[in-house]
Amino acid sequence: MSALQLVQMKLDRRIGTQLGGYRIVEPLGEGATSVVYRAEHVRLGRQAALKLLTPALGEADFRERFLRESQLAASLDHPSIVPIYDAGEEGEVLYIAMACVDGVDLKTLLASEGRLPLRRTLRIVGQVGSALDAAHARGLVHRDVKPANVLVGDDDRAFLSDFGVAKRLGTNGTTRTGSFVGTTEYCAPEQIEGRPVDGRADVYALACVLYECLAGTPPFHRPSELAVLNAHLHAPPPKLTKAAPELPAALEPVISKALSKSPLDRYPTCGELVAAARAAAAEPRIHRRRLAVSLSILLLCALAGAAVALTVRSLAFGGDHHAAARPPASPPPRVQPAPAPPLDAIMIKSRDGRTLNDVAFNLLKARQWKRALPFARKAVRRAKSGTLTRAYATFNLGYALYELGRCRESLVPLRRALKLEPKWEGPYIRPWINRAKECVRRGAIVPAPSPSSGGQRVPSPAP
Ligand SMILES: Nc1ncnc2c1ncn2[C@@H]1O[C@H](COP(=O)(O)OP(=O)(O)O)[C@@H](O)[C@H]1O
Ligand SMILES: [Mg+2]
Repeated sequence: MSALQLVQMKLDRRIGTQLGGYRIVEPLGEGATSVVYRAEHVRLGRQAALKLLTPALGEADFRERFLRESQLAASLDHPSIVPIYDAGEEGEVLYIAMACVDGVDLKTLLASEGRLPLRRTLRIVGQVGSALDAAHARGLVHRDVKPANVLVGDDDRAFLSDFGVAKRLGTNGTTRTGSFVGTTEYCAPEQIEGRPVDGRADVYALACVLYECLAGTPPFHRPSELAVLNAHLHAPPPKLTKAAPELPAALEPVISKALSKSPLDRYPTCGELVAAARAAAAEPRIHRRRLAVSLSILLLCALAGAAVALTVRSLAFGGDHHAAARPPASPPPRVQPAPAPPLDAIMIKSRDGRTLNDVAFNLLKARQWKRALPFARKAVRRAKSGTLTRAYATFNLGYALYELGRCRESLVPLRRALKLEPKWEGPYIRPWINRAKECVRRGAIVPAPSPSSGGQRVPSPAP
């Protein structure tokens, strides 16, 4: 404890007094309109966090709302929701007793550690999202999801607090909208406008928290509160990769969707937001693609090996290998199985964009342009729009067409790939566009041989 806190403790006349059956031990923190103490239940000796609020004059229904919402919050039983022990009023003061979380709140964590790594962020945000979905299923909207209300304990266990603590007008960063307020930095447009809110307002706020963990500042951070509110209402969602260029570009559309101005355009649940963010985080990056390629090669080699083995066997035993394989006391002859379809015919059945693109990539690498083409084409169709896979498959399609001498056709996907792929890929893609243009200009049927050190999609041999 700092010297300042010690002085504050001495000045705080509440320390050592009792309230609602709790003895107040020390301050834990302060909000805009509340103060939280570590406390101990006098009879049971149980530790608790005791939050005190003093309703302002003229807020006649504040007490009722506070007690009603506290009851609802106490009915929530979820591993990531701070359990409520008790709520009530004593004199002028409203109090809520809850489990005391050993750890720091996310606001303090971000202030001390700065931006958090993607995996850690998703771990924390994932827990909060699941707590919110559980609350929404019970008809309770949090309305004030923000880093200060996320407590992070050992092993990054996250707890969401302040369910049902009715929010009032505050001076630093809170604003009144209808009966409730949310902190401006995380406040959904419909909440600002005083329209009815549902769980999707929390989805929006959670996306703001997700963005802040990754970028270091909330998405609509502005110098004044008014400017922040205006940005929530009118500004497009900021580009996450501008603030954190090392993050997968596939996160961009996820954040944008969750920060849609209209709740109708957002993810309907926090779980869906978190799942989409996890999927985007798992998108292979450029350097990861070698792994996918190696796996594809292994698969192809295994299948090719099996084919060779079958051929050898059929040569060794002659045409009637079924008879040769039959045990002496043979069962009645079975129907001869149909010959296995060629490998490409099996692989093209895949409906997974990434698998299809991996095959296309692998075939391109082996300079099998014609075989690669249907895989690249289908990969473009099957990969979800906005994903890196879609972008890479689009390039691969253009690349295959170019190598097949279909230069004019190749220009369309190559140009599209330039738009879809992250900016830093531009220098790799543009030379191919130029080559295709040059080929069109020359009216060439067969393109100029591609340089051996070409684009990154024709990699040098794997290490
Ligand atoms: N259950 C709790 N356990 C431990 N610390 C808490 C708990 N609830 C709140 N705190 C601390 O008290 C601080 C003030 O909380 P609060 O009054 O809710 O204001 P705000 O959420 O606006 O910061 C929090 O930021 C947190 O550090
Ligand atoms: Mg709080």
